[in-house]
Amino acid sequence: MPAELVPRRPWRGRRILLGVTGSIAAYKSVQLARDLTRLGAVVDVVLTEAAQKFVAPLSFEGVTGRRALTDLFSAEGAALHVKLGQEVDVVCVAPATADFLARAAQGRADDLLCTTLLATRAPVVVCPAMNDRMFAHPQVQENLARLRDGLGYRIAGPARGALAAGESAGHGGSGGVGDSEGPGRMLEPAGIEQHIGRALGAEAAFVGRTVLVTAGPTREAFDPVRYIGNRSSGRMGYAVAQAAWRRGADVTLVSGPSSLEAPVGVHMLNVETAEEMHAAVAQHIGAADLTVFAAAVADYRPSEARLEKVKRRQAGDDLSVALESNPDIAESTVRARKPGGVAVGFALETSDLVANAAKKLEAKSFDLVVANDATEAGAGFEVATNRVTILSRGAPPEALPLLSKDEVSEEILDRAGRVLQARLAESPR
Ligand code: C5P
Repeated sequence: MPAELVPRRPWRGRRILLGVTGSIAAYKSVQLARDLTRLGAVVDVVLTEAAQKFVAPLSFEGVTGRRALTDLFSAEGAALHVKLGQEVDVVCVAPATADFLARAAQGRADDLLCTTLLATRAPVVVCPAMNDRMFAHPQVQENLARLRDGLGYRIAGPARGALAAGESAGHGGSGGVGDSEGPGRMLEPAGIEQHIGRALGAEAAFVGRTVLVTAGPTREAFDPVRYIGNRSSGRMGYAVAQAAWRRGADVTLVSGPSSLEAPVGVHMLNVETAEEMHAAVAQHIGAADLTVFAAAVADYRPSEARLEKVKRRQAGDDLSVALESNPDIAESTVRARKPGGVAVGFALETSDLVANAAKKLEAKSFDLVVANDATEAGAGFEVATNRVTILSRGAPPEALPLLSKDEVSEEILDRAGRVLQARLAESPR
């Protein structure tokens, strides 16, 4: 890692209560507690009695550096639940068994976790984990609906996928490995972190706003097996989409081919060509408060896509492919933008970075342009870092240090959020 790349600890000092109930998925919660602690949070873990049959309190103490809590009537004081409930910024119950959902939906107060839920007004994220047939049972669904609609709890997952044998042991489950057809499997820690991030990170500029992001390369076929493309991985746009969702926005991501996992909570529109991306953006930009054009769109496409594979024997030693221009998506959709909508563009340059980026700010009516030098190590395509200069209207360019793409996306959204808020002040929604 380059010396100047200092990892941000975005949740420094935030208090998270991690409730762990009795499911085999509890082993993943040790990783979750470790990740949350590494993000800077102070993590208090509360285990139910059943949870302790799957994983020991000591495992959590090892990764959080804090005493794991198990007892409503402990030496820490009779009102531990009240103190905890008032101090935490977010509660996350992972895994949440069917039994826990039933008890929480009823408002029971017979163990430390359920009692603390009654003592808190912090947002609650619940991550169910159980056999898929149990999860589909109307009784479980009714309890979930009560927690979600009646109490405003956020339900994260479950996902489909192989269930461990005994995923719901102790509560009447009989799941076997690989028998899952419907959802039941607890989300992975990385996904749960995003849900906790959204509970912690809600920001006025983004809550209830619609954000549209383009990302990745486009592929322009010239025969059934070959295409013209570029080296964009999609990382920058995916990071922006995820960060905007964490801030509370409804996010649509129009993505060219990418090997990245879809960001959590984001509505994905997968496309292949520039024309398909253009059509998707044209359809959605009218509703977007903020559009971020992070895609590396092919400027040209083959004039003719051949129906048969081009064979060397027929083409000979020289093969020319005639190209024609693709639409400039940002430029051609600007007029369809929502009134007051904010637009952010990218400029990947190999010379005269700031001057060329400033031209794009004007030519494409962007509010912000994120410029980077394609020739610089650690910046641009195929790397997890970026060194960018941000240009905005009426302010000098800001050169940022080398940052991870996650951090760059936070910097972009900080500035885009300020433009959004200023627009809102001019003409309230
Ligand atoms: O002109 P240039 O390709 O450098 O402009 C880059 C910006 O314009 C990026 O934000 C990119 O996503 C957007 N763009 C686009 N459609 C194109 C080419 C670029 O939306 N055909």
